[in-house]
Amino acid sequence: MRIESITEDFGAIVSDVALNELSDQDFQQIEQAWFDYAVLVFPRQNLSNEDHFAFTRRFGRLEKGLPHINMKLRPNIGNTDIKGNVLPPEHVGRVFNIGNSLWHSDSSYKRVGAKASLLAAHSVPNEGGETEWADMRAGYDALSTDMKRFLADKVAVHSYAFSHSWHYGLLVVPEEGLRQLPPVEHPLVTVHPVSKRQVLFVGRHASHIVGQDFVSSRKLLRELTTEAARPPRTIGHRWEVGDIVMWDNRCVLHRARATPPNQPRKMVRSTVAGDEPANEWAIND
Ligand code: OGA
Ligand code: MN
Repeated sequence: MRIESITEDFGAIVSDVALNELSDQDFQQIEQAWFDYAVLVFPRQNLSNEDHFAFTRRFGRLEKGLPHINMKLRPNIGNTDIKGNVLPPEHVGRVFNIGNSLWHSDSSYKRVGAKASLLAAHSVPNEGGETEWADMRAGYDALSTDMKRFLADKVAVHSYAFSHSWHYGLLVVPEEGLRQLPPVEHPLVTVHPVSKRQVLFVGRHASHIVGQDFVSSRKLLRELTTEAARPPRTIGHRWEVGDIVMWDNRCVLHRARATPPNQPRKMVRSTVAGDEPANEWAIND
């Protein structure tokens, strides 16, 4: 197996390995690389959905989908239907994915956010459609001493209703789904359970800061996200069919770049639930 880092401690490309026939020893090396680099790119794996699942499952329990999606594997991230046909721009399934173009950590609107996301490319456009990741360990390190001090005891509200329920006047989740996703709170500075590094935990689901004025704390969260998710703390991947990338939502934000109209971009995603034993979003099988 070859592991080439993209920067010193953020992102690595893993090749000369077949994820569908992984020895325990190879798995351990991959897991260690994932702890070290937070984003791993596996070019041209061409995994079946079954093998995609099996690889995901080695990192922990799968995460339940949203109430209205209710699938373990999200088969239509991008701009297509499940079969891979481009949807009209106003289709709710496509509008739903607009939110992916803003920096976020998957499922941070849940009481326990996602541990890992694994995204595989099934159809890719000729240009555009890249995914980008931002290192929020470095994002924290880059804050001023005053800002670190200010954020140390602050907690943000992460809200699905705030960030993801309405786009362009369309309600993209049923009201029943919204009732199951009440706003939750997460500290703005977290400590990664493995590296023990401090992380600036923000992104688009973070609506405001508990105990602070809504509008001004919303503005601050947006500024913190924009500033942290900038070079040299970002990396990107231009997809080829069959690539799969996994990232650590506990220390990385990500976003999708625009795809040219009418070109299919079909991505399939699985999610590893947060490790907490009592995580109500984890599937126990
Ligand atoms: C996701 C996501 C980004 C992309 O699947 O959670 O944000 O590039 N995807 O499609
Ligand atoms: Mn996402």
